[in-house]
Amino acid sequence: MLRSIDLPSEIDSIPVPQQTEQGIRLLEQRIQAFQDCWAQSHAEQFVAADYFLVYQTLQWLAKAQPMIGSRFLEWGCGFAAVACLADSLNWNSHAIESHPDLVQQAKQTIQQWSANGQELARVQLFAGNFLPPGAEHLADDPTLPSLYHEGKNPYHAWDLELDDFALVYSYPWPGEDEFHAAVFDRYAAPGAMLLMFLGPNHMQLSRKVND
Ligand SMILES: C[S@@+](CC[C@H](N)C(=O)[O-])C[C@H]1O[C@@H](n2cnc3c(N)ncnc32)[C@H](O)[C@@H]1O
Repeated sequence: MLRSIDLPSEIDSIPVPQQTEQGIRLLEQRIQAFQDCWAQSHAEQFVAADYFLVYQTLQWLAKAQPMIGSRFLEWGCGFAAVACLADSLNWNSHAIESHPDLVQQAKQTIQQWSANGQELARVQLFAGNFLPPGAEHLADDPTLPSLYHEGKNPYHAWDLELDDFALVYSYPWPGEDEFHAAVFDRYAAPGAMLLMFLGPNHMQLSRKVND
């Protein structure tokens, strides 16, 4: 089962390093340009999280919470912003995205992160479906946006399972956070954490514990 972890209310006042702030601002401009472009409008499942709040939460979590390892995974990474931020906080960062245009954008983010004067991003990016095989059966609604994405199995390609990751991050569409939590609960290791961005000013952190 998943146990909820309270986040401090002052988490959004944790200082963000200047270089990280610059990196996020540049990324926000690229995302805005992408979303303004008609040719990209079919990437309709992509909505950007609040990367300042996600970064602040990752910073807090690294200091305040015990970890079972250092592997981080972004489910449905879009531009791979959070995966790069996790890398900059020394997570062994992995990211999965199914939409080909977004995979290209994610590659660009990973390459440009170093161009911001920050350390080279070392994100393992995979073009595929983040749901482990069989996980679709945990959904009680066949129309959830995370379901039925084309693509290879990243876990097989990496020779890893979901239970090899200490922290998974996702930004589920409204109404599918319970499905993401159910998949994590079924496949993650005890002690691993799931961090979700659920909308403005709303982060949710939980840890898998033995029943
Ligand atoms: C709401 S966006 C979040 C993007 C990014 N993680 C963030 O926080 O800004 C959800 C992303 O997940 C991707 N996605 C949804 N279901 C997926 C799946 N089963 N496998 C891979 N990518 C998926 C979508 O293409 C989209 O880019």
